[in-house]
Amino acid sequence: MKRHWLRYGVVVAATTFLILAQDQKTPPWAYALNPPATPGAPAPAAPPADTSLKHVPGSNVGLTLPQTRDLFNPPDWYPDDHPAMPEVVMHGRRPDVRACGYCHLPNGQGRPENASLAGLPAGYIVQQMADYKNGLRKTSESKMGPPTTMLAIGKAANDAEVKAAAEYFASIKPKPWIKVIEAKMVPKTHVSGWMFVETEGAGKGMEPIGSRVIEMPVDLERTELRDSKSSFIAYAPVGSIKKGEALVTTGGAGKTVKCSICHGADLKGIGNVPSISGRSPSYIARQLYDIQQGNRNGPWTQLMKEAVAKLTVDDMVSITAYLASRNP
Ligand code: HEC
Ligand code: HEC
Repeated sequence: MKRHWLRYGVVVAATTFLILAQDQKTPPWAYALNPPATPGAPAPAAPPADTSLKHVPGSNVGLTLPQTRDLFNPPDWYPDDHPAMPEVVMHGRRPDVRACGYCHLPNGQGRPENASLAGLPAGYIVQQMADYKNGLRKTSESKMGPPTTMLAIGKAANDAEVKAAAEYFASIKPKPWIKVIEAKMVPKTHVSGWMFVETEGAGKGMEPIGSRVIEMPVDLERTELRDSKSSFIAYAPVGSIKKGEALVTTGGAGKTVKCSICHGADLKGIGNVPSISGRSPSYIARQLYDIQQGNRNGPWTQLMKEAVAKLTVDDMVSITAYLASRNP
């Protein structure tokens, strides 16, 4: 009897370990997951609609909260800050093609849970949309809402929409958007809206950074209003920028391949190879990981295989810290 229980205990422990090990495979700092809803709990009652007009600095636009949450008519706080948006960027097409400008912002600067598109080569954007459509670009963490939604958008968008969006975003010059700060201790955070935010109230405090890059809004209120001029901070471990620089610029003695060979001397891209400079470290880490795991596997992705094959998640911390610290 005793032996039976012992064996049972070992099986339970092994199973738990396997589940935990699997759960911990995708780096949680790169794939921010909203906390799961409590099973069986009733859905929270919708708060009464806040109909007051909101404003952001340097803009004459006034919008209500529900207006800032419209996936088919996203907030455009600074209409003079970007060229005229094509229909697909400004409104999308119901039911599945949500407006590109909602998630990626009208100026294409993007957010940690999606991607910056400003200044990417049009041919590259077209190829990525084809990869989404053909099931060659997936995510390693399907519980993360935004990448999963992007897959559906890629499947639904037609060629004319893709072309218009690609030409639009390619025509915009990306602006500095991420400030990397190396630190031993960082503010305690939790995930809200698929993004890390500083914990306030009882849970407020500092904690060791560990081996993570923690990207969060400089001004949460403005970011929540989808202000396309309110930027991000990325905390990174002390020394990570230098380690990342060594890997990126030398290949780390066979650990990876010098990135400039394909991404250009300034890492801002050549031809249809995208820029990797000054972009969201969470986004870039997800790509390195997705490519390594074979979840991103388009025709052009093959050129990346050797560069990611031997990278550990710690290497990805360093590489993304370094890349994000550069100008876009
Ligand atoms: C619901 C939010 C959302 C909307 C709307 C959206 N995207 Fe995305 N998009 C994402 C997310 C999230 C990712 C990054 C997925 C990941 O982390 O791998 C992404 C990634 C991309 C990429 C890859 C960028 C790169 O550097 O490889 C392209 C291209 C893209 N989107 C184009 C579009 C276009 C064009 C539209 C409009 C037709 C659009 N997106 C609408 C969420 C969105
Ligand atoms: C042999 C050429 C080559 C080398 C070397 C290379 N890359 Fe790439 N990289 C590419 C190509 C091509 C793509 C586009 C892949 C696709 O279409 O899926 C890409 C895409 C990426 C992406 C995804 C960008 C996005 O917008 O989603 C990241 C991140 C990246 N590379 C990082 C690196 C890093 C870091 C290094 C060096 C350690 C590196 N690459 C070395 C060719 C290369």
